[in-house]
Amino acid sequence: MNGLEMAAHLRSNGYVVTSQAALDGSEARAALRAFMQREREYRERFLQSAYGSGFDGYSYYGQEDSSHQAEDDLISTFVTSEFYGVERYPAELQAFLRTGWKEVLEAVRALEVELIAGLGIAGLAAFYREHVGHMMSHNYYPPIEQFRTAAAGNTRLSAHPDVSMFTVFPFGIDRELELEAPDGAGARAWRTVDASDSILIYPGYLMEMWTEGAIRAMNHRVRLGADRRAERCSFSVFSLPFPGRRFEMPGRGAMSSEAYFEAYGALF
Ligand SMILES: [Fe+2]
Repeated sequence: MNGLEMAAHLRSNGYVVTSQAALDGSEARAALRAFMQREREYRERFLQSAYGSGFDGYSYYGQEDSSHQAEDDLISTFVTSEFYGVERYPAELQAFLRTGWKEVLEAVRALEVELIAGLGIAGLAAFYREHVGHMMSHNYYPPIEQFRTAAAGNTRLSAHPDVSMFTVFPFGIDRELELEAPDGAGARAWRTVDASDSILIYPGYLMEMWTEGAIRAMNHRVRLGADRRAERCSFSVFSLPFPGRRFEMPGRGAMSSEAYFEAYGALF
């Protein structure tokens, strides 16, 4: 699937299951599990408050002040990015960040550059080149049986659009991810995405804002699976402005990265 084909899929379906095979996520999965198994006091040394701007850090179920997940989502997450040195992250994640993450970044950037070229939106390629970096959300879903209530809308992860220009699933997709995609009749409907060993891409709120609504952010959620004892891991890479940048936002004028993050946060 070339850039033009990906762009056509994105415009008609709202997302793209690319023809590119997913990368091996076993190292990242083992690293995430190792971190999540550490004692609470250790994990809480890496809360978002230990980092600066952006979304980096650990967020947990029940946390009231995470900018990365809702309080009642049945999930714990760790966000890493290229905005901080590897030594700022937990030892459990560092080996992955020094090796596998580089390969992930390369694959994600190549796909995004091709898709952006295929979309042919004036100025978008330059904005991406000059201001956009990447973070990865490492998502750990404990077995559902550990919780007494579900997240909003009877889900495991409540519905939301991402802060990204694109969200990419480099290790493929697990069952139970649902996307609110165009239904072909001018409306949107929830659709379960088949588990896949291909890389999935969908647009986030940065794309929606940048295109003044022409390309809408993909609302998504994770439904409650039938297996209440199964844990779930998922990994998504977000393209977003480097903290501390200023750029032109079409239709809005000069904007800082932080003002953009704030506008995104105001959606919730
Ligand atoms: Fe998300």
